[in-house]
Order: sequence, then structure tokens, then C-alpha cells
Amino acid sequence: MAKRTPKRPMVGVLLISTLWLFASAAGAQSPRALENGQVPLMTTPREKRVAIIGGGAGGASAAYYLRKYADETGIKPSITVYERSGYLGGRSTTVNVFDNASEPVELGASIFVEVNRNLVSAAKEFGLTMDDADKSRPEDVPERLGVWDGQDFVFTQPDGGYWWWDLARLLWKYGWTPIRTHNLMKSTIGTFLKMYEEPYFPFRSLSQVAYDLGLTNITSETGEKFLEANNIRPPFSTDIIQASTRVNYAQNLPFIHGLETMVCMATDGAMSVRGGNWQIFDGMIKAAGATVKLNTTVQQIRKTDFGTYVLSSKGKAPSLSPTVQEHEYDVVVLAAPLQDASITLTPRPAYVPAKIPYVKLHVTLLTSPHRLSPAAFNLPSDAAVPSVVLTTLGPDETPREREEGVGRAGFFSISTLRHVVNPSSNGDEYLYKIFSPARITGADLARFLGFSSSGGNDDDDDDAVDDDVTWIYRHVWRSYPYLYPRVTFDDPLLDNEGLWYTSGIESFISAMETSSLMGMNVARLVVDDWKKEVCNNNEEEEKVVVKAKL
Ligand SMILES: *[C@@H]1O[C@H](CO)[C@@H](O)[C@H](O)[C@H]1NC(C)=O
Ligand SMILES: *[C@@H]1O[C@H](CO)[C@@H](O)[C@H](O)[C@H]1NC(C)=O
Ligand SMILES: *[C@@H]1O[C@H](CO)[C@@H](O)[C@H](O)[C@H]1NC(C)=O
Repeated sequence: MAKRTPKRPMVGVLLISTLWLFASAAGAQSPRALENGQVPLMTTPREKRVAIIGGGAGGASAAYYLRKYADETGIKPSITVYERSGYLGGRSTTVNVFDNASEPVELGASIFVEVNRNLVSAAKEFGLTMDDADKSRPEDVPERLGVWDGQDFVFTQPDGGYWWWDLARLLWKYGWTPIRTHNLMKSTIGTFLKMYEEPYFPFRSLSQVAYDLGLTNITSETGEKFLEANNIRPPFSTDIIQASTRVNYAQNLPFIHGLETMVCMATDGAMSVRGGNWQIFDGMIKAAGATVKLNTTVQQIRKTDFGTYVLSSKGKAPSLSPTVQEHEYDVVVLAAPLQDASITLTPRPAYVPAKIPYVKLHVTLLTSPHRLSPAAFNLPSDAAVPSVVLTTLGPDETPREREEGVGRAGFFSISTLRHVVNPSSNGDEYLYKIFSPARITGADLARFLGFSSSGGNDDDDDDAVDDDVTWIYRHVWRSYPYLYPRVTFDDPLLDNEGLWYTSGIESFISAMETSSLMGMNVARLVVDDWKKEVCNNNEEEEKVVVKAKL
């Protein structure tokens, strides 16, 4: 799909803001309407105070687009971003291999694709270097990608890595089904992209816009049913599409909904930002000129009688004052799943998002001089294991949900990311990333990499590094919701015109880009409300001027 820059409803925006500028200029030039001593009737709009809670994709985008849209109208918001962790980027963050800042590796959201308009255009604006997602994959392994069902490899391809399915190989094995899938994906994503444009954008109700676009027809079904209805069947769906839903969302086709299933197949132009995707969100917050409060937990949002909100927050780091601070805002944007935020909303807003289950994803990053062991994958000892192993269920396995959905394979993916040089030994080693529903033990690693597990399976030793595992980093994310079929989604407005929410979009499509879309949408709605306020005020003031003249 060709790269396109976001098309925003520019004409409408320009017209309205021009009108407003014109009105205020006219007001400023007609002081003769005023009696002596009367104060000028045209006031500059009061500064708007905005709090954004969460410095990930949704919060950073809300800040960035709020500044952009406000600049177009001449309103000057002051924006404060509250982030409970010590960094910006949320689930997009890197860790340093061997603690070397020149060797970052993505711990969370690792790629984005061409159709991710907001991310691509922001990365360009900030001058970030984008790499093809498979750029640094080691070349010294013949079969680069394989799908393993816990017993056999059901598909392997010699080239083209994880985000680049080898079409020739797919056609050879599965006939025309891959082409049908690609076409279905393109039309589905094409429909989704209308959410960025008038008349759908901006949207006060995600459920309504999803319905209007016919996307609820796709979210209401499981991936399995949606594919079947489009004549896409096993083994292609179970070998390839399910391997994708598992590596991206840790879910099987009979449980994940059809729209998210299609998103998994939209890998055209997969890329990542050199040095870490978090730089996009960091750049957005900087461009917004926002005040950033890191290591700061928001405890309460209290609505006042004047329709403003008082935030109580507390610093967590030793360097920050541990006392509760209170600040007043006109607008609050909650840009993190409310259910995990432990924030008290007083009084209870008109609408409170329902609690939904999130995937607990174990990410294990490690370095080792060993390659993946053929024995661990039932291969002859002289066979090379693909450098990226995705998994699916065996034909004899009953698909299950939640953690049990992983099945016999026991993990969702193991990727050989790149070569690294071990600073202690100067040896050339491999960097691996494993996604799994449970902790990967030392014994698991010994099996995958074919070394003998030293001294029992004592879990306390799992993180000990030696000659076999030379560096290890573990993290458990609440990474994305279980994306069960549904037709309603949490809307962005929680309370009349002041309290907004971006995370409802995660059960529709959970991705950096969709969080960004919702941040942008909320920004547009907030600035549109301000513009209405300014126009109403000016109209009233103009009426007063006219009366005074008469
Ligand atoms: C945030 O907290 C971490 C851990 O306590 C600390 O290392 C870091 O310096 C803190 N950052 C700020 C800006 O307070
Ligand atoms: C850190 O990584 C860079 C890039 O790979 C390398 O050139 C440098 O020597 C490493 N530094 C240390 C202390 O190992
Ligand atoms: C959605 O499904 C309904 C009922 O099957 C159908 O009438 C409608 O045309 C579909 N909408 C779109 C946009 O496909």
C-alpha cells in the first residue's frame, strides 16, 4: 500500500479558524463601540489547562495533536503529562543488551507498518531513521522463518524473515488462499483508514463509527469464522494466519476477533525506528511543549463545581516529593487502561469503562553463543533451525483460550534478532527474544539452545548468567486485551466535555497506531469544543456590541 500522509479535514478547520481570527481582529478594531471606562469585549481565550495521564502512544499523540490543532486556532493550552514509570513510551520501550546503551533492543511493541499513518509521519517529522524490520536478522542460518506446531515445522521459508511472508513459497504450498487473504486484508484495512477522514473523523463514539463503517460485522466474529466466511481455510489459516495472531496477540483464531486477525496480516512495509520506537512518542511530547511528570502516580481525579478537575498525584522516586500534590485542569485525558491505573474518580463519571481481561505476556531477552538446537524442535542433529520460530497448534490439538491457548509448543515465538559481541569474551553471540504465556525456565533455555542444564531446575538460578546464557532480561507485560468478538467499545468521553479516555480502542485494534489515532481523535474533539466555546462567547459579545450601538 502506498505511503500517504494523514488527510485531515483541513478545509473545515481552516475556515472556522479564519472566521474566528477575523472576528477577534474586528473586535479589536472597534473600540468605538465602547463607552468610556468599559472593558474591551473581545477577550483572548483563557489558557486551557490539560492533564494527560500516561506517556505512551495514546497520551503522547493526544499531547502532540492537541498542540497542533490548538495552534491552528490560536488557543494556547498548557499541557502536563503524568507518567507513573520513569520513562516515556509506555509499552514501547527498549532495554540495553549487556547494559550497553549502543545496543538497545525493543522490549515491547517492536514494529509498525506503512499504513500506520501517524507513526510514520511523526517519525519523519522528527528525523528518525527507520529500518526495515528484518534488517539485522543473521544471515548465517539457511531457513530464516518456520512455523512449528510443537512437533513438526508446518511451514518454512528460506528468506524474507518474520514480517515478509515469502509469497512464492506460500502460493506453492497453499494455492490462491494467500492472495485472497491479502486482498481481504487490504479491503479491511482500507475501510479502517476511513476512520482518519471526514465524515468519520473525529468520532465521539467508537462503537458508532465502527458500526457505520461495517467494521462491527468483522469484530463480531472470531477470526476463524470470518476467514471461513471468506473461503480462507486450514491449513493456510491455521499454519500462517494463526501463527501471526499468536506472535502478535498471543491468541488463537477461534477466540480473537476478525478485525484484529486481519491487522496481523497487514505487514507491508514493516519497520522500526533505529534506537527504539519510543523516540516517536518522546518526540511527540517534546513537540507538544508539554510539562512531563515522570515517576508520578495520579491517585484521584475530582470534578469541581465549576466543571474543572483536580488531580491528586504523588511522586514515587526518591528524588521527588512524596507528598500529595493537587493541580486543577480544564481537561483530563486518561491515556492508559483505567482498570490498571488505581485512580479514584470522584464523583463517578457518567460512563466508566468495563474491566476487560489483558494478556500477561512474558518477554525473555537473552544472549548466547549457541544457536537454536535441532533436537528441541524434533529435527535431525545436522539440520538448521529457522532463526525465527513462530508456533501454531497441531492438527490434533483443541484450540484453547488464555494461557492454555499456547498448546504443546509452549511458547508463541522465538526470534534470533541479531549478532552481538559479548564485551567480556569478545565472542560473537546471538540475541534472542521469546514470547510466552509463562516464565521461561533455565531448563527451557537449555533445551532450546542445546546445552546441558547445570545443577537441577532451581528457579532461583534462572537468571544466573554463565557461558551458555551470557545476558538475560525478563519482563511481564499486560500487553493487550484478549480480543474476544464484540460490537461495542469504550467511547472516548467519560464525563461531559472534560474527562476523556483513549484506551477503549485497544479492544477494537490494539496497536501503537490505533492508540495514536485515538489520542489524535480526542485532541480534535477537545479543540473543537474549545472553538465552539470561543465562537459562542464571541457571538454573545458581538450582540452586546450591537446593542450598545443601538
Ligand atoms: C524515576 O525513578 C527511577 C527509579 O527510582 C530513577 O532512577 C529515575 O531517576 C527517576 N526519574 C525521575 C525523572 O525522577
Ligand atoms: C557497545 O556497543 C557498541 C556497538 O555495538 C560497541 O561498539 C561498543 O564497543 C560497546 N561497548 C562496550 C563497553 O562493550
Ligand atoms: C453488516 O452485516 C449486516 C448483516 O449481515 C449487513 O446487512 C450489512 O450490509 C453489513 N455491512 C457491511 C458494511 O458490510
